[in-house]
Amino acid sequence: MDTTAPFFWGSATASYQCEGAWQEGGKAESMWDRYLHENDLENGDVASDHYHRYREDIETMAKGGQNAYRFSLSWPRIIKNREGEVNEEGIAFYNSLIDTCHEFGVEPFVTIYHWDLPQYWEDEGGWLNEETAHAFEHYARVCFDRFGDRVRYWATFNEPKWFVMSGYLIGNYPPALQDPEKCAHAAFNVMYASALGVKAFRAGGYEGSIGIVHSFGPVDGVDDTLDTKIAMRFADNYANNWILDTAATGELPIDLLTDLNRRFDLSYITPDKLQALREGTVDFLGLNYYSRVLVRPYTDGETQLVVNNSGSAFKGSQRVVIKGWFEQVLDDPNMQTTEWGTEIYPDGLRRGLIEVTRRYHLPIYITENGIGVAEDVSQGEVQDDYRIAFMKDHIAAIKAAQEAGADVRGYFVWSTFDLYSWKNGCRKRYGLVAVDFENGYTRTPKKSYRWYRDFIAGEQTGKPYQEEGQR
Ligand code: NOJ
Repeated sequence: MDTTAPFFWGSATASYQCEGAWQEGGKAESMWDRYLHENDLENGDVASDHYHRYREDIETMAKGGQNAYRFSLSWPRIIKNREGEVNEEGIAFYNSLIDTCHEFGVEPFVTIYHWDLPQYWEDEGGWLNEETAHAFEHYARVCFDRFGDRVRYWATFNEPKWFVMSGYLIGNYPPALQDPEKCAHAAFNVMYASALGVKAFRAGGYEGSIGIVHSFGPVDGVDDTLDTKIAMRFADNYANNWILDTAATGELPIDLLTDLNRRFDLSYITPDKLQALREGTVDFLGLNYYSRVLVRPYTDGETQLVVNNSGSAFKGSQRVVIKGWFEQVLDDPNMQTTEWGTEIYPDGLRRGLIEVTRRYHLPIYITENGIGVAEDVSQGEVQDDYRIAFMKDHIAAIKAAQEAGADVRGYFVWSTFDLYSWKNGCRKRYGLVAVDFENGYTRTPKKSYRWYRDFIAGEQTGKPYQEEGQR
């Protein structure tokens, strides 16, 4: 890994959530296009129109002092069909985007898969079909070959836990299944695909480093009882270990496999695939941090996962119970939460980073961190002091973890500008820059953009940024 690289202060997006142009440039249909159109749901057909405005967006990032941009590539924009033919128009689009990053001195930090599976693979069973893993390997190799001369930072997958649990257990993301056995199978195939991608990167001798991005939920317990300790281990296996252990050490947690093997047929986990996992370990971990997971022991009832996908701010009725394993505490009145009911808990990041360092000893990037809020963008600059406070507290947590030995090398705000938040649509805004979706997609930086710019300038000049009044 390049140890001379500067600390990355950047922000992040994902192809389906911001590009739009769903039928332009020879792009094939993605599973999200099909699912949202068929169900008549708010979609990302236009999203933030980044496909046509990436130059303006990257220039704005650079003017905001950001030195890295985390974005994802769209598989259906790059590969035309199951035969693996390359869409040269898609390659040209990303070539131009990557070149624009370099032109403005912004390091491209590229995620290969951020959930937009080509529909032609979903038609073949998607992540339940091991052929999809091999197709991913081919797609990843095309990306390395075509962009590897200018991209030094790669992540195979974004948040396997989130898209696998949502798609195969909760059923609120495509392919909208509620099937624990299939969920376990898809989870394995995704980690296998990730390892194949890493192996291909190494075998090709490309420069740079490769990691995976995980939706990090450090686990806390409600007390120190043995029952809570056991619930915490189940919750950690569910929320973190099947991704982090596997990607970092090449080994799936054996107690998790033991439990799943009692319930399901795991005969697809063959020695050659286990060997591939061992050979495909990552150079770094990307952690997306929004909140911790506070658990108590399981009491009774069926597995239940209720999350807020209403598109509107609401609190209260979320519920996560995994039968026999654990229950998540989401209803503590002392919790400080966002409008969407997500706990705001920066200290979870500090402690989580220290724990991840203790376990894996790998470089870490905070690949996402941010707050989703319903904001009125029609009245000039959005005064998002809450976002500034959120960022400050989380950056302070990172610095404290660094002091305790965590090797953190970058921080990416989610998101660069307002974008389409999956089932929550465009009302849940995370951007440093407002996008007026109703009025020509005009961009207006928010107060947090200015704060981040001044903060970064302070970090880079060695004169830490001070609040007005403290100067
Ligand atoms: C994680 C995901 O990577 C991203 O796609 C999503 O929009 C944000 N978190 C916010 O929920």
